[in-house]
Amino acid sequence: MGNCSNGSFLPLVSTPILAFPLMGKGQVLPHEGGVRGGRASGKIILFGEHAVVYGEPALAVPVKKLFAEAKVSTVSRAGIWISAPDIRLYKELPRLPRKHPLASVVDAVFAALDISPPSVLRTSPPEGGEKNGIKIKVTSTIPIASGLGSGAAVSVAIIRALSAYLNSPLNDEKVNEIAYEIEKIHHGTPSGIDNTVITYEKPVFFQNSPLSPRSNAPPPPLQEKPIIKTLQVTKPFTILIANTGIHAPTKKSVADVRKLWEEDTKKIETLFTAIGSITRTARQAIEGGHPERLGALMNENHRILQEVDVSCQELDRLTEASLNAGALGAKLSGGGRGGNMIALSTKENTPAIAEALLKSGAKNVIVTEIK
Ligand code: PMV
Repeated sequence: MGNCSNGSFLPLVSTPILAFPLMGKGQVLPHEGGVRGGRASGKIILFGEHAVVYGEPALAVPVKKLFAEAKVSTVSRAGIWISAPDIRLYKELPRLPRKHPLASVVDAVFAALDISPPSVLRTSPPEGGEKNGIKIKVTSTIPIASGLGSGAAVSVAIIRALSAYLNSPLNDEKVNEIAYEIEKIHHGTPSGIDNTVITYEKPVFFQNSPLSPRSNAPPPPLQEKPIIKTLQVTKPFTILIANTGIHAPTKKSVADVRKLWEEDTKKIETLFTAIGSITRTARQAIEGGHPERLGALMNENHRILQEVDVSCQELDRLTEASLNAGALGAKLSGGGRGGNMIALSTKENTPAIAEALLKSGAKNVIVTEIK
């Protein structure tokens, strides 16, 4: 069994409180006294993580109870100011490393709109001059590095807010494309699933180019035909998402899987092919109105992820605890080695499963209905 990530625990948000009524997809918040806002929800992968990096399909759903928000406003101080109080960051854009995800996303929006941030925004005001600048404030209730898509949600929220502020709101396709570029900074060789489900805010069946990292080539740009299909959820079902509280960067687990793949390509490809077939069966179960069939598929998917060495004691303990409390199935979700696991529940069993998860060390449990 794999080890959990180095055990650093996250400052977790407690049960999320919804400060605003949730809006539909493509969330540009209403204009509020010169402030433009964008919001993007979290996401969770139901099936197919890791295998999706190698061209197999994955299923993921938005988690609307969690979200990132960006607000862009005019300030009297010249420059572009990035404020991210959750990570105690307040800096002028040029002072961030160019490869910083927040700097990169802001640069990418200006580039996409073909606007060069006027020098007035980048420099201090000349003597005596009153120059306006802009502030981009980012907040999020999505725990970082735990498989809930916080990086992609922050990117999408900023892209929406900034492009709206610049009077040229970008469409979902362009938002997704930029967010994918930023995912490469976060994750190295991302499949593109996070940015996709977060941008479109719908349950999706996702499959990137099968040619992608099976060769040593870098991942293709997203527009090279990933298959993205909205999942038709015929019968709603409930999942619990339990957080181990362990900080587990996806970049590391993806890189470790990559090493395994290099050492024994045949074995890992066979495992990923099996995950691909589980994912396709799961899609049929969801669209055919048999969500109860997902339980056994989740258990099998988890077992394979253990073999790929991305589970760990805490994740295994939580999956066991949920099954013992009546879950129909359970598995880790996302990069693994910490972060979150999911359990499929029936309405009656949900409270007992949540209690069992908390008793077994979960730091937070979110109940969400997939519909
Ligand atoms: O840890 P998450 O939820 O961001 O998901 C990572 C999913 C992987 O398949 C492991 C990587 C990817 O880019 O798809």
